[in-house]
Amino acid sequence: METLVVDHPLVAHKLTVLRDVNTDSPTFRRLADELVTLLAYEATRHVRVTELTVETPVAPARGVRLAQPYPLVVPILRAGLGMLDGMTRLLPTAEVGFLGMVRNESTLMAETYATRLPEDLSGRQVYVVDPMLATGGTLAAAIQFLFDRGADDVTALCLLAAPEGIAYMDKVFSGSDKPIRLVTAALDERLNEHGYIVPGLGDAGDRLYGVV
Ligand code: URA
Repeated sequence: METLVVDHPLVAHKLTVLRDVNTDSPTFRRLADELVTLLAYEATRHVRVTELTVETPVAPARGVRLAQPYPLVVPILRAGLGMLDGMTRLLPTAEVGFLGMVRNESTLMAETYATRLPEDLSGRQVYVVDPMLATGGTLAAAIQFLFDRGADDVTALCLLAAPEGIAYMDKVFSGSDKPIRLVTAALDERLNEHGYIVPGLGDAGDRLYGVV
């Protein structure tokens, strides 16, 4: 997996406030949204475009526009929803699909419990958004699901990543010939015994939406 840790003072500043335990939910939601837009700028570096010519008031100019089929943005429920608006702000023509993932407590494997996605994703570029790449189990299962539907290019955007999650993704997809990219604001130290990223920012879903 090609990993990009975005190194930018605005990203670092917003992430620092997100990490702060004293940051309230409205501020957390707003900053997460702003941070995603900054990450999306980097994550869409490989978005497909087609060339065209437009008329300026002065002369014809060569340019590009997003190629069709348009990209698909897939938030992983629930916490990924907090990253959706930040993505669609930069990709207004993107379609949005939803993927609900839950850990099966007997097998400890991530399973899909809800999907709202096109049946056939052949030829689609997909942007998966999920704030925390912790063990990697959920993200790997989500990406496998998308590949099984035909997606041929997946970029994951995560606010934070743990080395364990990246190693797991590399192991699971070592033989894959399809491009997988990760764009994140920081690579943290490790996971703790509860599977939380350290130092992290706590439970992203709870901080976005409260403990429900
Ligand atoms: N999910 C979270 O919300 N936080 C973590 O630290 C790890 C997984």
